[in-house]
Amino acid sequence: MKKRFTLGFIGCGDMATDLARVVRMTPGVAIGPCADPDIARRAAFAGRFAAGTGYGDAGELMERERPDALFVGIPHNLHYPVVMRALELGHHVLCEKPLAVTMRQAREMEEAARERKLKLAVNYQYRYDRSAHALIMLCRQGLLGGISHCRVNMPWRRGPEYFAAGAWRSRKAEAGGGTLLTQASHWIDIALEAMGSPPAAAMGMTARRRFKDVEVEDLGMGTVELSDGALLSVTGAMTANPHQRVRIEVYGERGTAVYTGPDDFPPASRLLLLGLRKKRYSMPFPGLFSLQRNIIGFVRWVRDDAPYDNHAARSLPALATVLALYRSAESGQKETIELDGGHSG
Ligand SMILES: NC(=O)c1ccc[n+]([C@@H]2O[C@H](COP(=O)([O-])OP(=O)(O)OC[C@H]3O[C@@H](n4cnc5c(N)ncnc54)[C@H](O)[C@@H]3O)[C@@H](O)[C@H]2O)c1
Repeated sequence: MKKRFTLGFIGCGDMATDLARVVRMTPGVAIGPCADPDIARRAAFAGRFAAGTGYGDAGELMERERPDALFVGIPHNLHYPVVMRALELGHHVLCEKPLAVTMRQAREMEEAARERKLKLAVNYQYRYDRSAHALIMLCRQGLLGGISHCRVNMPWRRGPEYFAAGAWRSRKAEAGGGTLLTQASHWIDIALEAMGSPPAAAMGMTARRRFKDVEVEDLGMGTVELSDGALLSVTGAMTANPHQRVRIEVYGERGTAVYTGPDDFPPASRLLLLGLRKKRYSMPFPGLFSLQRNIIGFVRWVRDDAPYDNHAARSLPALATVLALYRSAESGQKETIELDGGHSG
């Protein structure tokens, strides 16, 4: 029997807690040491998950401990320095999205991992949502024919506690952006994977409709032009009432595919096909829902070098797209999406 795979935690906040809950129900994976400068959060996390030693300083954990990999779930502007240090010290990393807040940082991180032959993944777990996976597969196999366009609509809702519980989420310098980067980038990632052509240019607009005293947008819309001429329209919102499912509509020559989701816990995603016969796709990894499958996929990638989609390079097109939408919202112009050096394939 294989030895249990130990995941160390950098950051003991909301997402680390969600992920630790899933790790605890995943056979063969264990929670190791954790680090968070916030004593209360660190103590609550350690108490709940009986993790290894708790550290106030992430650097100290990374120097002293050798878990099989680190999960990094901290404010976005800290991903770059913390992950770069982890790579310098020889750790494999599962980093939360977005990988970084600039393309230059993201590329450096991806290159540093590649040069050191370390595994660096980004937690875009919905790649392993059953219906999102089927959507990507059937588009990639050409079953929809040539894709003319796609619409992503994320009508989500966040209450004031969202910013109250994590003030960094409201500040541009720390979060890098609002709903487009933090939430809608999951669905832009799926749409780009399905459409299969690199994003080329974007026009975007952002607004603050409910949360007036935060620096980041709570509503963002945009149109993205892909290299093959197809168009992708994106609406990301945390202002909808009530909170609703995400919808991704892909329009092809031979048919239309409509995804609704996500496949969280309990799993509740669907794929409706118009003009096409239903096709079943098996998931590459076991698991009850997307986050668990993504953890299992990451573990197998690190341990056995098994094929895995969420490596850092694959997350760069979605990041580049959101950053171009932001640039366009500022400039009022169509902005080029800069992928070069980012290994988008
Ligand atoms: N994949 C998903 O579905 C999903 C969902 C929610 C959040 N996230 C991502 O998870 C990450 C964290 O978000 P969150 O909502 O958990 O935020 P949070 O504010 O709840 O937690 C962040 C934690 O990081 C700690 N921290 C700050 N600096 C640190 C450092 N240098 N070393 C160690 N810990 C440090 C904070 O004290 C805090 O406890 C973000 O990247 C966010 O986008 C992903």
